[in-house]
Amino acid sequence: MKIVTINGSPKGREGNTNIMVAAVLKGAQAAGAETVNMFLAEKEIKHCKGCFSCWFVTPGQCVIQDEMAEILAQGEGADVLMLATPLKYANISSLLKVFIERMLVLCNPYFKQDPESGMIRHPKKTAAAEAAGMSFYRAKLLMIASGGLSTRDHFQVVSRWIKKLAFYNHTEVIGEIYVPQGLLLNTQEPELRPIIDNYLQLLEKAGREMATTQRLSAETEALLARDFMPADMYVAQVNGFFDRMLSKLEHPYVK
Ligand SMILES: Cc1cc2nc3c(=O)[nH]c(=O)nc-3n(C[C@H](O)[C@H](O)[C@H](O)COP(=O)(O)O)c2cc1C
Repeated sequence: MKIVTINGSPKGREGNTNIMVAAVLKGAQAAGAETVNMFLAEKEIKHCKGCFSCWFVTPGQCVIQDEMAEILAQGEGADVLMLATPLKYANISSLLKVFIERMLVLCNPYFKQDPESGMIRHPKKTAAAEAAGMSFYRAKLLMIASGGLSTRDHFQVVSRWIKKLAFYNHTEVIGEIYVPQGLLLNTQEPELRPIIDNYLQLLEKAGREMATTQRLSAETEALLARDFMPADMYVAQVNGFFDRMLSKLEHPYVK
């Protein structure tokens, strides 16, 4: 059982998103899973140019020389692909988006209509794509995201997008974990710390479930969808922090 994580936070290892990822991976490792944790912030991945050389000139090979091929190689044999991102303007981060677009190299170009939904997608991948890292398609998907704006509706786009990606990749979403009060994930406030620690333990449990059943139980997913505190209390906390940060500065902001 292999779990491969692609973390699209520009803050990489130091980010709030990685606090979540690290807890899930800790649980998964304890349950015997092999894990790979990659930080796009540490990689050089250029934008897909849309030249389609990877389809029509050198099938299965991208013309861009950067670290994408190495990432695909490390993902070989993945059973679960965990995509992790901070929310950026209600969407995945640009780092993660650049990575996903470069997965075009693994696509079979032909179009095919799915008889069930009527939607068009590319057919299942080719043997060449298998050699080039097909696991990134075959792998089941787990979506993880952290945001700062407190309410869960901000994750709607990500939640719809991950399901569409699963459809494109002929795979399934096995869990979605969203933290809308992400600014608290690294709190050192003594009265808040136990709430966060409890949440991190739940994330470890999610990792164990992932490693043993390749899914997240409905019970754990529901527990993980609970907020750390009511939204108005969170707003007061965050604004108190902003007050302290801005108190000695001339600034144009009004509450
Ligand atoms: C440019 C930018 C855009 C952001 N947009 C959103 C947003 O749309 N919704 C939200 O809830 N948080 C937003 N945030 C807050 C981050 O998602 C949040 O702080 C997250 O936990 C950061 O994770 P990281 O430390 O792993 O990068 C934004 C932050 C930045 C820097």
